[in-house]
Amino acid sequence: MAGQVLEDVYDNCFAGRRVLVTGAGKGLGYAIAKKFYEHGASVFALDKNKKSLEALKDELKNVTIITVDLRDWDETRRLVKSIAPIDHLVNNAAISQTSYFEEVDPTQIDELFNVNFKAVVNVTQTVTKSMALELGDQGVRVNCISPAPTVVLHEMFVSPNPKIIQETQKILDRQIIKRPVQPSEAAEIVMFLSSPSSSMITGSSLPVDGGIFTR
Ligand SMILES: NC(=O)c1ccc[n+]([C@@H]2O[C@H](COP(=O)([O-])OP(=O)(O)OC[C@H]3O[C@@H](n4cnc5c(N)ncnc54)[C@H](O)[C@@H]3O)[C@@H](O)[C@H]2O)c1
Repeated sequence: MAGQVLEDVYDNCFAGRRVLVTGAGKGLGYAIAKKFYEHGASVFALDKNKKSLEALKDELKNVTIITVDLRDWDETRRLVKSIAPIDHLVNNAAISQTSYFEEVDPTQIDELFNVNFKAVVNVTQTVTKSMALELGDQGVRVNCISPAPTVVLHEMFVSPNPKIIQETQKILDRQIIKRPVQPSEAAEIVMFLSSPSSSMITGSSLPVDGGIFTR
């Protein structure tokens, strides 16, 4: 019942809204783009992977796809500007690298910063600018979700390497709810934070992690 109420709220508040999701080709970004799309939003799906964007477009016909590598500052800016104004921005694209501390090299650090930090500043700056023009002195809310290992956990569970499965089980054992978070469950929280139902929430980071940090 409560779920249906929220679904109705989302239909009302996202129909026709312009939503940009970065890293929408797969994983959480895909789930988030799909959720907004299902509620009638005009979705702009950005990713560097053309193939996965084309697959997304096959499924969600009216999505506008934008193929760009976020590490390319100027091209990203040009393309994001061309779709202004944007009502909701989901900075989802990111990369992760696993290596032992002593083996980390400067190239890896640059790579992480270029995608996970610099690109977020670039896209947000470009969008915020256009929103500011559109919305004048109305508030812009900024929130963040922190999912526990989700898709990754799935991938880890099917790994042929028993050590990885063991490590995965250890992560899961720390959660109170002992199963991986589904991408759609993370997408639900993004919808909530983007909707008027969370009108007094800003500057927050919401864990979506089955209670992993509670112990
Ligand atoms: N999956 C998890 O367990 C988990 C846990 C906590 C946080 N997160 C965060 O959730 C977000 C999505 O994670 P995911 O597991 O769905 O990722 P994923 O690797 O499955 O998908 C990431 C998408 O981003 C795109 N991308 C990566 N670099 C890009 C670039 N330079 N330019 C354009 N597109 C680029 C990829 O092509 C891919 O489609 C990330 O911000 C991640 O840090 C994920």
